[in-house]
Amino acid sequence: MSGEELDRALEESSLRPLPGTAAELLRAVGAPARLGAHLRAVHDVAVQLLEWLGQAAPGLARGVDRNAVVFGAATHDIGKAQFPGELSGPGAQHERAGEALLLSYGVPGDLAKFAALHADWDRADATVEELLVTLADTVWKGRRWAGLEERVAERLAAAEGLAVWEAFMRLDDLLTRIADGADGRLAFQARFPVHEQTVPPGYDKKRPTRRAAAPLPPSPGNAAGGTG
Ligand SMILES: [Fe+2]
Repeated sequence: MSGEELDRALEESSLRPLPGTAAELLRAVGAPARLGAHLRAVHDVAVQLLEWLGQAAPGLARGVDRNAVVFGAATHDIGKAQFPGELSGPGAQHERAGEALLLSYGVPGDLAKFAALHADWDRADATVEELLVTLADTVWKGRRWAGLEERVAERLAAAEGLAVWEAFMRLDDLLTRIADGADGRLAFQARFPVHEQTVPPGYDKKRPTRRAAAPLPPSPGNAAGGTG
């Protein structure tokens, strides 16, 4: 089966393109087109969050690993290539599977971890990068999650010298604007099939292996930069 549907999900629409490394990984694992579309939507929102931080919260932005957020958003659900039922229903098997998949392709652990931790943001040691990936994975479809937003507002307040309520208000303005675009993102995602696998020739679904012909760069995050 060709990867035409996945190619369309990765290339169509005005959503920002995924980092090249992330798109290559999705093709390599035979990701369903719906997964590719979902990652496009979440990645686009993550970049919007980062752009806003750069302009409105330089103190926090200085301490954020932008490439990690970009790559994390672009790959966080890659484990759903192995558990496609979790694209349309509940389930957490994709989380650890996604991290293992990324590690098997040589992705460094500090970038692969987003696949395992994106649903586990409510930990005391959650990094701001993890919070931002989960925030993007929430607000892309217009969902607002007060507890998560408070955690981000606390980081914002500490970095910018603001009261938490003030940081929360500024963040709320941004998230309201981003949520206004949810219908378009949802419609884009819904155009692509959930279950149709786009398996490349020679790929064994039971035993994913790294493709020798396409080695990853030492730091996939470097390739994640040009998404604007
Ligand atoms: Fe997601």
